[in-house]
Amino acid sequence: MMCWGLLVLSLHALSCLVSGVTSSRTSSYVRTAFPSTDIPLESEWFAVPKGYNAPQQVHITQGDYDGKAVIVSWVTQEEPGPSEVFYGKEKQYDQKAEGTTTNYTFYDYKSGYIHHCLVSGLEYNTKYYYKIGNGDSAREFWFETPPAIDPDASYTFGIIGDLGQTFNSLSTLQHYEKTGGQTVLFVGDLSYADRYEHDDGIRWDSWGRLVERSTAYQPWIWNSGNHEIEYRPDLGETSTFKPYLHRYMTPYLASKSSSPMWYAVRRASAHIIVLSSYSPFVKYTPQWWWLKNELKRVDREKTPWLIVLMHSPMYNSNEAHYMEGESMRAAFEKWFVKYKVDLVFAGHVHAYERSYRISNVNYNITSGNRYPVPNKSAPVYITVGDGGNQEGLASRFLDPQPDYSAFREASYGHSILQLKNRTHAVYCWNRNDDGNHVPADTVVFHNQYWTSSTRRRRLKKNHFHLENLEGLISLF
Ligand SMILES: [Fe+2]
Repeated sequence: MMCWGLLVLSLHALSCLVSGVTSSRTSSYVRTAFPSTDIPLESEWFAVPKGYNAPQQVHITQGDYDGKAVIVSWVTQEEPGPSEVFYGKEKQYDQKAEGTTTNYTFYDYKSGYIHHCLVSGLEYNTKYYYKIGNGDSAREFWFETPPAIDPDASYTFGIIGDLGQTFNSLSTLQHYEKTGGQTVLFVGDLSYADRYEHDDGIRWDSWGRLVERSTAYQPWIWNSGNHEIEYRPDLGETSTFKPYLHRYMTPYLASKSSSPMWYAVRRASAHIIVLSSYSPFVKYTPQWWWLKNELKRVDREKTPWLIVLMHSPMYNSNEAHYMEGESMRAAFEKWFVKYKVDLVFAGHVHAYERSYRISNVNYNITSGNRYPVPNKSAPVYITVGDGGNQEGLASRFLDPQPDYSAFREASYGHSILQLKNRTHAVYCWNRNDDGNHVPADTVVFHNQYWTSSTRRRRLKKNHFHLENLEGLISLF
């Protein structure tokens, strides 16, 4: 088994080298035209489930800090109905959890009844079936819990951003479903309902039905983007993130956060930190304090992979949204370097881009050191804002390509991150136009904690014989 694992890793490493990721590259791939318009409301992809008051827009997310709970959410349209989840390891559904119901209005839109139900005390590595709704309208789904927190627990995450509800969005979902991803890390901008007159909430509902094919069966770790803000004082809507916060729950209390907008979860061998680009984050704000404390709580001996999600990228060489992440970079980048964050995923820019390990922590307003430099302690920054929404692609990159940018391409797609063990992960970005097994950007990542110099020596002595492979992939 080990030989096969090493062979796979070696092949991936070789593919990195031959694909030219050792120098900055802008892909010359030209995608075929595919209209960036939303799927019509009457489409079968938005079909309302049959039956009176049938649950719709079903989605689950992690419900605690360590992956032994899920939050099941759904909407009923005609009446509240029961907010109960029946679940079990078999379809006899021998257990029951009770949830809550909420709803909201947004200008002239009135939402259905939105249910959130925490299902806790689950066993790791177990398939659970669950049923919601009444009588003939009841609907059944399933999900699988992750392995227990363990530094060598292998696990596969998908990364999707800026999804929207076009046929490109659907293509992204369909491609993702073939990859074996077990949980989605979502980097913000969900439905793009705010692009409609009066921020038409009907497009929140249609989006919930479109993505149910995935969200009902595996957790999506939610994060918000600018399209979730929905601040419309002209319509009398002066609170922010109103539809998003009513519809999408996060387990923020479990990570001692004071807001559902920023939080952390641990899953298998990963510690995932979700940051809100559009909530206060400068020094002394709640998000700043929370992140400062959460980073201290990270235990790389148990969860070696430290991953940060945000919406607006800190490093971006696309003309779209250029420099918008600079304020968060100024606030948090030094911590990312100090704590050796492995990967920072962002969206917002409707294209794909991956950086080298670089930092700009020496910059200050008078030093003149204003260009990012290679830094082995720095994260790799990856922009995956290419889910396929109605705004289309951001195809104008800065020219020439900055040194810190390793690979970039303006196509729709999604990423897959396979955590293999405490030391290695295989990452790939899949463009929609390719088949499932033709990733357009592949990298083997070393863990930033376990493969630092002292850890690396101990590892070589006590664990695996990776010398040859490490020689191949030492550039990463
Ligand atoms: Fe955005």
